[in-house]
Amino acid sequence: MAELTTLEEKLGEVIGLAMAAQAATEKVIKLEDAEQFKGVLEQMNEEAAETEQRGTAIADSIEGKKTAILEKARETKSKGSDMLKTYIDDDSDALDGFEFLTMAEAGEVGHWKVLQTLAEKAGSSELIELSQWALPIQQRHFSDVQDGALTLAANEDPDATS
Ligand SMILES: [Fe+2]
Repeated sequence: MAELTTLEEKLGEVIGLAMAAQAATEKVIKLEDAEQFKGVLEQMNEEAAETEQRGTAIADSIEGKKTAILEKARETKSKGSDMLKTYIDDDSDALDGFEFLTMAEAGEVGHWKVLQTLAEKAGSSELIELSQWALPIQQRHFSDVQDGALTLAANEDPDATS
């Protein structure tokens, strides 16, 4: 398989994180007490799908590297799925779900900033543009899931034992 540059590898990673984010939002939406956040989770899910598509479209356009970039994306997605399985089980409630999403979205913000920095260094206008589109969306995702976790936490009884 073609060897990837650091920039191409990072593109693969953000595509993979967008794939994982779709699986994560679909799982969290089904957790107990998550109903009130259905709208925000569905929007996150759609934006993650669009992020995957836009990233994949650029990967498609990189001569001879498409397969290796998408392989990297699948590898990242599978690491994300493992984390999701480890963190969310049958006993998990919406607060657990939003805590997981807080980690996942912070990870996406961090990865997009790294990609943006490398894209600027490489002078890749396509990837600079994609990062400029994606970063504010990921920052909003992060703040939405953080708000969700805090709303749920405010309704928890700190003295309850379960
Ligand atoms: Fe996200």
